[in-house]
Amino acid sequence: MRKPVIAGNWKMNKTPSEAAEMIQALKPLVEGAKPTVVLCVPAVCLPAAKKAVRGSRIKLGAQNIHFEASGAYTGEHSAAMLKEAGAEYAIIGHSERRAYFGETDETVNRRAVAALRGGLIPIICVGETRAQREAGYTNALVSYQALIALTGMTADEVKKVIIAYEPVWAIGTGLTASDEEANATIGVIREAVAGVYGKRAANAVRIQYGGSMNPKNVAGLMAQPEIDGGLIGGASLKAEDFAKVVNYAE
Ligand code: 13P
Repeated sequence: MRKPVIAGNWKMNKTPSEAAEMIQALKPLVEGAKPTVVLCVPAVCLPAAKKAVRGSRIKLGAQNIHFEASGAYTGEHSAAMLKEAGAEYAIIGHSERRAYFGETDETVNRRAVAALRGGLIPIICVGETRAQREAGYTNALVSYQALIALTGMTADEVKKVIIAYEPVWAIGTGLTASDEEANATIGVIREAVAGVYGKRAANAVRIQYGGSMNPKNVAGLMAQPEIDGGLIGGASLKAEDFAKVVNYAE
């Protein structure tokens, strides 16, 4: 069975000292956590966060990586840099990166492959805008985004990947897809993966829901059979809120 992963995406929030403080508060609250717990922090917070998570099962992630190993790419970080700084995961292709920083399906694919080959587990984000949803393109779009992002990976590599289905209209808005809708769309993504990489890979790949997931709606979403976890923005910034999401089953 797939082990659920609850990952926080802090986005551009918290300084290194604020990160350490939050993690110290979170540690005792998630000690017995059943899911894998990941915090994707700003890159500059990784060293402080790495110290702070010691003695806990909290894992760390980055929010992006560059696809090259090194070179003239001002402002970017390689997988090796982020790994040494403490990351084990990396969010790739978040809709904010796509909307504000020119990420394309092709760069998302290159970054995802580089993350994997650099020893980081990519959390690949896909999701439709409101207009795309209203036009009836959700299933085609998320399938296409997921398959392009996985291009060039072997079926065994695909098994390690995490995909996050984040409807763009649900991010930071307080709106969520209904439990059943989120489940159905994630099922569509899994079918698309099965079509190219086979049923075994598709059954292993973990697919999260993201978009206004919070202590109140987490249990309903997580009760759905296709939903393997969450990618949490706003509700990951406070230890008490994030702990409630992590401990959704209690
Ligand atoms: P919110 O939980 O704030 O809606 O953000 C979701 C998200 O974008 C996580 O990557």
